[in-house]
Amino acid sequence: MLKFDFKKNFLWGSAFSGPQTEGAFFEDGKASSNWDYWFKKEKYRFFNEQPCRNDFYHRYEEDILIAKNLNFNSLRTSIQWSRLIPDGKTVNPKGVEFYNNVINTMLANNIKPIINLFHFDMPTWAQENGGWLSLEVVDAFTFFAKTCFELFGDRVEMFTTFNEPIVVVEGSYWYDWHIPNEISMQDGMQAQWNILIAHLRAVKAYRELKLDRQIGCLLNISPSIARSKNPADQEAAYYHDLFTLNCFLDPMVKNTYPEDLIKLAKKHNFMWTINPGDEALIADESLRVDFLGLNYYQPARVKCLDYLPNFANGAITPHYFYQPYDMPGRKINPYRGWEIFPKGIYLALMNLKNNYNNIPVYISENGMGVENEERFIKDGVIDDQYRINFVKEHLAWMQKAISEGANCFGYHSWAYIDNWSWMNAYKNRYGFVQLDLDNNGQRVLKKSAEFIQTTIANQAINYDEELI
Ligand code: BG6
Repeated sequence: MLKFDFKKNFLWGSAFSGPQTEGAFFEDGKASSNWDYWFKKEKYRFFNEQPCRNDFYHRYEEDILIAKNLNFNSLRTSIQWSRLIPDGKTVNPKGVEFYNNVINTMLANNIKPIINLFHFDMPTWAQENGGWLSLEVVDAFTFFAKTCFELFGDRVEMFTTFNEPIVVVEGSYWYDWHIPNEISMQDGMQAQWNILIAHLRAVKAYRELKLDRQIGCLLNISPSIARSKNPADQEAAYYHDLFTLNCFLDPMVKNTYPEDLIKLAKKHNFMWTINPGDEALIADESLRVDFLGLNYYQPARVKCLDYLPNFANGAITPHYFYQPYDMPGRKINPYRGWEIFPKGIYLALMNLKNNYNNIPVYISENGMGVENEERFIKDGVIDDQYRINFVKEHLAWMQKAISEGANCFGYHSWAYIDNWSWMNAYKNRYGFVQLDLDNNGQRVLKKSAEFIQTTIANQAINYDEELI
């Protein structure tokens, strides 16, 4: 038996997001978002052409009660900008009512709401005005953030500005997972910078309101693991950190921006625009995050390049500086294609402990998406032992980091009920609870639901493997 020695009020719960659960795309005054627009335009890029069908907009009470019955004391969702301020200027009363209902229902069930502001979604008008390349959009986001703090800050003790901001950059400008589906190193870096500034301006607005609660950001941290000790592989790991982590983590926690990234951009001609006042925001210590959320799924194994890229006129991306490394024999979740490496959660937490002032952090996402889980149904219940093993192993490594001093105050899975996964739609399921789309979206507990319930009740798991 592995008994946890977590802090009092340790957060147990789960994350989800507005665009992945709400549905009701155009109901009650909601405007089109970038995802609504893209789905309409290129439906074929979404698995089985399925839109979000969780219907949290109408079923939030049922879903929050399920969370309570799993023994959760906290939940994270996001506010859809396109629902709250559809035209960027006027607050939608129906949007306010909905998010008030969600927050109040959580509180009435002793569930602490953690409210995130940007989970890959922006209104279509903002996308069409240049998305994160536009300073007008940065202004509009700051207004949206301030409005959320004013409307909900009396009850929400933890806000976060962005979920996985680097994924927005990668998806929109480097690897073609999100609209506007551009491939441009420089635009990607400009978006990275503007998102960072939008985050800092939101934190500034928060501090000015003197709400005296907490604001943070949710970062996906995939520890970089070099293929070998060869200096070229080591350098590849360094570059991976620069592009995917340090450009957000350093300014948010240490008030610095990686100089090496600026040098690289100047040398390779992808330097972005830095506006007056930006650097002062980064240097302002009062704008440091109060806490971080750490989304952990997989490590980033990297190696140096095998071949020379097209120097003359290639469309470069960060993969010009490092390449993903498929380590032979790595354990993989074949449905999502992601490596399963529970020790990575420990490595990420220890990095924050040792190099980032041991900033308070909670695991804000961790989970395993599996396709066609119906084949595992026994007596009406999905027997997802693989998910139980996955969570157990990650909890064990998280506990090890905590026992070695990591300042970790919670564990949230992704996500407790199956939900819509962007281009993968409903292909891979993550929940402890099945969303039965053939039966009116009925919520059915999987075997892992009982596991998480008892784990939280006992503050312990059955686990005796040696952690090396
Ligand atoms: C995280 C995101 O990166 O991973 C979630 O914050 C996402 O929005 C989750 O759903 C799982 O990834 P995917 O692509 O399988 O849904």
